[in-house]
Amino acid sequence: MSTTPAPLLTVRDLKVVIGGRHILHGVDLEVAASGTTALLGRNGAGKTTTVRGILGLIPRTGSVLLGGEETVRLATHALVRRGIGYAPEDRGVFAALTVAENLRLAERPGAGEPAYDLVHELFPELRQRARQAAGTLSGGQQQMVAIARTLLNGNRLIIADEPTKGLAPKVVSEVAQVLERAAQAVPILLVEQNLAVVRRLARHCAVLADGRTAHRGPAAELLADADAARRLLGVGRARHGDTGTPSAGTPAGTSPGTPARTAAHPAAPTAEADA
Ligand SMILES: Nc1ncnc2c1ncn2[C@@H]1O[C@H](COP(=O)(O)OP(=O)(O)OP(=O)(O)O)[C@@H](O)[C@H]1O
Ligand SMILES: [Mg+2]
Repeated sequence: MSTTPAPLLTVRDLKVVIGGRHILHGVDLEVAASGTTALLGRNGAGKTTTVRGILGLIPRTGSVLLGGEETVRLATHALVRRGIGYAPEDRGVFAALTVAENLRLAERPGAGEPAYDLVHELFPELRQRARQAAGTLSGGQQQMVAIARTLLNGNRLIIADEPTKGLAPKVVSEVAQVLERAAQAVPILLVEQNLAVVRRLARHCAVLADGRTAHRGPAAELLADADAARRLLGVGRARHGDTGTPSAGTPAGTSPGTPARTAAHPAAPTAEADA
């Protein structure tokens, strides 16, 4: 039996208060040292706040160990220097700048030679489109730029907040592929509501509910458990002719009972879920 490698990131009892309101009441999660770990939960559960807390963008208490080092009292710039790359919810790509300019702006002094070789090996398309204005790229290509920026600086961890949000199913599949490639190079903490993407990419997951960790474990196990998925994520509700079971070939996000947010946030095709 092999021993499980120590997690890269360990979050314990993370609490956040904003404007006197308790947003996070104690989040616990671990990010595996390789591959993709998913952070799940319904709208407003506290996923983005957790990410912002980890990154020091908002005041927080608790413990955030990065490779064993306590970082909860560090400022954002110090966390960035320690190798956390962030692809925010809105991608943060500069539309008027070219692909090459977007990447150049992400270069970090002191981080060593920017890893253009890695970026171009993973995303050859970005080299071909170097002179194209980022605003004229498809949503999937823009997401590629956002992820590529986090790979340039030899980061140890990438945090991607809902990279497939608002994208058409075909593009969701492209972005999943982008993330899959990136995760071969650097571990990813992936905030995601598209369960087909979670199924395809994530080995482990943590689920938040009302600012707390409600579940942690193997992602496949959760997605195979219709009752747990319904309770924790609000998917897989039955209606006539539907078993309500997110079976192996049926991405849970495509269930007719899916809440409004997920409907505007389409699940990937079945083939992708099985990839
Ligand atoms: N700056 C803020 N001021 C006040 N309340 C906030 C602030 N940021 C977040 N909240 C509240 O905290 C809760 C958690 O928000 P958060 O954005 O972390 O959720 P989320 O899980 O990322 O949701 P979504 O799936 O919609 O992105 C929500 O009720 C939200 O309204
Ligand atoms: Mg969010």
